[in-house]
Amino acid sequence: MSAGTDQCNDIPINVIGLSGSLRLGSYNTALLRATGELATDGLHIETYDISDIPLYNDDVRLAGFPEPVARMRDALRAADAVLIASPEYNRSVPGVLKNAIDWASRGPDQPFAGKPIAFMGVSRGALGTALANHHLRQIFVYLDAVMVNGPEVMIGGGPQKFDATGRLVDEPTRRFVAAHLEKLAALVKDIRILRQQRQCLP
Ligand code: FNR
Repeated sequence: MSAGTDQCNDIPINVIGLSGSLRLGSYNTALLRATGELATDGLHIETYDISDIPLYNDDVRLAGFPEPVARMRDALRAADAVLIASPEYNRSVPGVLKNAIDWASRGPDQPFAGKPIAFMGVSRGALGTALANHHLRQIFVYLDAVMVNGPEVMIGGGPQKFDATGRLVDEPTRRFVAAHLEKLAALVKDIRILRQQRQCLP
């Protein structure tokens, strides 16, 4: 292993977590909490609350980003990676999450370009969040993010996977989520190495 890769492995990876549910007892927010127990490889995951993001209005944007939006965009830009945990609403992405993504996406300095990003989701249904996850992929192709492909975390039967305190207790699900986080950490490290090497090119 080169000195460059050793240095990359020592640097913490700061991840901003977005939940697609504002509900206090949200399984998706609980899933983000669980990543605090499951994350290794230098990952530090902090959930960012999007409940104060106003409804998107292009007239408002043209007059200047509202303060909660500007704060969220700064936090996204500063993070090494983004981790989204979202339910599926009517076979798609919940409006509150799409609204936050839409706000973040405007302007020349859109924070998702080139940013490593991973998706997870919990729903009550048997199909998990398969369709919402795929809609998120469509959105982030357009926004030029760099996505973790798999293992895809699309958890069905949400209430059976958590205990009464909201702790993720289902062992196979915990292993699966941990594997997904390892892939996210590896992606961030690979990108760091590529960027370092690019700087060395004549
Ligand atoms: C749902 N739910 C749901 N579940 C699913 O598997 N597929 C779906 O398309 C939908 N659609 C849907 C629409 C709306 C408006 C709501 C409120 C709910 C159920 C959903 O999986 C369940 O409420 C989860 O518990 C929501 O996630 P949180 O809030 O626990 O994170």
